[in-house]
Amino acid sequence: MRGATAPWGRPSAPPARTGEPICGVNPHNPERTFSRRPFNNPSHIWTCQGTRSYFTLFLNVSVALVTGAASGIGQAIALAFIRESCRRIILIDLNSEGLQETKQLALEISSEVKVLICPCDISDEAAVNKVMETGMAKFGRLDYAVNCAGFPGGFAKTAEYVIEDFDRVQQVNVRGTWLCMKAQIQQMTKQTPLKPHKY
Ligand SMILES: NC(=O)c1ccc[n+]([C@@H]2O[C@H](COP(=O)([O-])OP(=O)(O)OC[C@H]3O[C@@H](n4cnc5c(N)ncnc54)[C@H](O)[C@@H]3O)[C@@H](O)[C@H]2O)c1
Repeated sequence: MRGATAPWGRPSAPPARTGEPICGVNPHNPERTFSRRPFNNPSHIWTCQGTRSYFTLFLNVSVALVTGAASGIGQAIALAFIRESCRRIILIDLNSEGLQETKQLALEISSEVKVLICPCDISDEAAVNKVMETGMAKFGRLDYAVNCAGFPGGFAKTAEYVIEDFDRVQQVNVRGTWLCMKAQIQQMTKQTPLKPHKY
C-alpha cells in the first residue's frame, strides 16, 4: 500500500503467519527487542523497537569507519555503531590514546567486535590513503563512514582571529574531511553493495 512502504512507517500489519514470531529478541543485539513488519518486498525484515530496520539489518555484516573517534561526537558514534551490532570498525584520529580508550569501550560493549585503530592526520593525503589501504587489507570493504574529526579553531571575532587557526581549520575541516570522503567514496563505488539478508 502506498505510504506504508517505509519499514519505520505506520505498519498496516497483516496477521502473523502461523508459527511466525512477530516480536522477540534480536539475536545480534540481545538487549533490543524486534518486531517483524511487512515490507514492500515479499521478504520480511526485522525492526528494532520498530525503527531501526535497515540500519540493524546491515550493520552486523558491514564495515564502519569513524574519524575523530578518539573523543566527543566521533567516539559516541563509534560506540553507537557497536551497540547497534556493527562488528567491524575502523577508528581514525590524531590522538592515539583516545583511540585506545574508544577501542577499550567498544570491547566492553562487545568482545566480538574487531576494531582497527589508525592514528592519522586527516589533512595528510598520503596518511589518509595509507589508512584506507590498511583498513581494506583487514576488512575488505567499507559500508559506513562518519567524518567527525575536526579542529575547533579559536573563538574570536574576525578582526582578532589568528591566521594560523584559520589555516588549520581549512586544512583539517575542509581539506581533511574532503580527502577522507574521496578515499571512502573510491572504495565504496568499486565494491559490491550488500544485499538485504532474509532471516
Ligand atoms: N560538539 C559540538 O557541539 C560541536 C558543534 C559544532 C561543530 N562541532 C565540530 O564537530 C567536530 C567534532 O566535535 P567534537 O565535539 O566531537 O570535538 P572533539 O574535539 O571532541 O573531537 C574532534 C576529534 O578530532 C580529532 N582531530 C582533530 N584534528 C585532527 C586531524 N587533523 N586528524 C585526525 N583527527 C583529528 C581530535 O583529536 C578529536 O579527537 C569538530 O570539528 C567540532 O568543531 C562540534
